[in-house]
Amino acid sequence: MDTTKTITLITGANRGMGFQIAKELGQKGQHILVGSRSADQGESAVQKLKALGIEAEYIVLDVTNKTTIEAASKYIKTQYGYLSILINNAGIALDEFQQPSQLSTDTMRKDFDVNFFGVIDVTQAMLPLLKQNKEAKIINISSIMGSLSAATDPNSQVYDASAVGYQASKAALNMWTIRLGKELQANEESHITVNSVCPGMVATEFGGATPELAREMGARPVEEGVIRTVELASSEDNSINITFSNKEGQLNW
Ligand SMILES: NC(=O)c1ccc[n+]([C@@H]2O[C@H](COP(=O)([O-])OP(=O)(O)OC[C@H]3O[C@@H](n4cnc5c(N)ncnc54)[C@H](OP(=O)(O)O)[C@@H]3O)[C@@H](O)[C@H]2O)c1
Repeated sequence: MDTTKTITLITGANRGMGFQIAKELGQKGQHILVGSRSADQGESAVQKLKALGIEAEYIVLDVTNKTTIEAASKYIKTQYGYLSILINNAGIALDEFQQPSQLSTDTMRKDFDVNFFGVIDVTQAMLPLLKQNKEAKIINISSIMGSLSAATDPNSQVYDASAVGYQASKAALNMWTIRLGKELQANEESHITVNSVCPGMVATEFGGATPELAREMGARPVEEGVIRTVELASSEDNSINITFSNKEGQLNW
C-alpha cells in the first residue's frame, strides 16, 4: 500500500489547540482529518482550513461514543486504508476546585471517560490503520497537571494545583502512553511511537474559560501551546518514543 501521504487524525480539532494543530500540520502538507463531536462545527473548521489551502475533511467523532469511533475507523479504512498520525487531543476538566474528599466520582468518571477511556477506545480502533505504515505516531495531549513528580515537588508551579479528577485522568493517560509505547516497541512489522505532550497553560475555552480570561490568568497563545506537538508530528525522525515533554524539553512523569 502506498502510505506516502501523511494522514493525520486529530480528536477535538473543531476548536482550541486541536484546530491550531490541524492548521499547522495542514500547512506542512499533511491531510487533516478533523475529529469533531458536531458535524456543523467540524464542517465550519474544515471550511476555515480549506480557505488556507489545507487538505482537510471532518469526521464525526465523540471519543465517548463507540459507534462514532467505529464509524470513523471504518471510513478511514475504506477511504485511505491507513492512518499515519493519531493525535488524541480532545479533553475536558470538570473539577471546580473541590477537595479530593469532596469531588464526586460522577464528575471524576466524566473526566476519565474523555481524557482516559476515550483515548484508549479511539487508539484501539485506529491501531490496525496505524499498523499499515512502516512508521506511525500516536501523540497524547496530556498535562503537567498529571505529573506525579510535579504534584510532589514543592518547587513545581502545580504543587498546589487542585483538580484531582482532571489530574488523575492525565496521570492515567501518561501510564497508558508508557505501557502502549512499550507494547508497540516490540512490534516488528511497523514502528509506532507513543508520546505524551504538555502544551502548558494555553488561552482556549478549556474548562469553561474564555480565551480572554485565561490570558489574564497568564495563559499563553495557542500557537505556543502546540509547538511541541507540531514538532513531534512533523518530524521526519520517528525515534522519539515514550516521552513526556513540552516545548522546553523533557518532563518528569
Ligand atoms: N488549555 C490549557 O491550558 C491546557 C493545558 C494543559 C493541557 N491541555 C489539554 O489540551 C487539550 C486541548 O485542550 P484545549 O485547551 O484546546 O481545550 P478546548 O478549547 O476546550 O477544546 C477541547 C476540544 O475537545 C473536544 N471534546 C470534548 N469532549 C469531547 C468528546 N467527548 N469527544 C470528542 N471531542 C471532545 C471539544 O469539542 P466540543 O467543541 O464539541 O466541546 C473541543 O474540540 C486537552 O486534552 C487538554 O486537557 C490544555
